[in-house]
Amino acid sequence: MNIQPPKPAATPAIARDAVELQAHVATWRSAGQSIGLVPTMGALHDGHLSLIRAIKGEADRVVVSIFVNPTQFGPGEDFKTYPRDTEADLGKITAAGGDLVYLPGLGDMYPDGVTSDISAGPLGDVMCGASRPGHFDGVASVVARLLRQCLPDVAIFGEKDYQQLLVIRHMTATLNLPVRIIAAPILRQPDGLALSSRNRYLSAEDRVSAAALSATLRDLAARAGTPASNDGASLRALEAEGRQRLLDAGFTRVDYLDFRDGNRLERAEQASGDTRVFAAAVIGGARLIDNMAVTA
Ligand code: PAJ
Repeated sequence: MNIQPPKPAATPAIARDAVELQAHVATWRSAGQSIGLVPTMGALHDGHLSLIRAIKGEADRVVVSIFVNPTQFGPGEDFKTYPRDTEADLGKITAAGGDLVYLPGLGDMYPDGVTSDISAGPLGDVMCGASRPGHFDGVASVVARLLRQCLPDVAIFGEKDYQQLLVIRHMTATLNLPVRIIAAPILRQPDGLALSSRNRYLSAEDRVSAAALSATLRDLAARAGTPASNDGASLRALEAEGRQRLLDAGFTRVDYLDFRDGNRLERAEQASGDTRVFAAAVIGGARLIDNMAVTA
């Protein structure tokens, strides 16, 4: 019997700096192909992979970037311990249909020093911006660099980080970057918990309790859509109830739980078609975020 040696696992092409990235992009462009970009910080899960699959319908070639961006982490946050698993990521990207993985170094992204030089504007001051000052300036600064280096036709971001999505739309509009920004729905576990690289910080017990976040938001979103709850006072009462439910479920801190409009993030005084409920709360070692549309 002729036993074949096992085939090495397929890995996608890798670009380790902007020059290598642009060489691949130029080759594809000269063949008339369009480019899609999926920015990530690695430690990929099915939520990230859903972005790769979704953008494949919008572009001929898919670039996935992996860069743990220091400027979006605050002092005392998990930059040093953020999960890094590039080997596993490469296999997942291949399986999901990515064509190229961009793995820039710190010096490629921040040759003049590791600081944010693009402001997220007022959208970056509320919600997660209030609890994580400077976070969205860091996100805007790194995503602007990735977009300028790659010059994709389209880039995709998850609604899991809804505020980030709005900040990036605003940033690309103000900088006139010629890219289409598309959004992908939140991928969840069967019990409702949104997939996140930070879920691995949860103990088994906290992982069970963490399902209260999506369950609470789902309930509040449904109730806010009913005529009886559709004014400012009722929405504020639902927010207070939701915060208490999270604390009762084992969350130790609720940074915010707000009904806001899904374009400008202003506090909602009544529920309309674009109202969403947003929350960030800490359980065990993890700060979790989630959001849902009001089902008005
Ligand atoms: P990261 O947390 O790795 O997420 C990369 C992308 O995956 C983001 O657009 C995020 O919204 C999306 N994503 C994460 N979990 C998801 C889920 N459960 N369902 C759908 N999409 C999900 O977000 C970042 O990295 C960084 O801030 C980045 C944009 C790369 C800039 O550094």
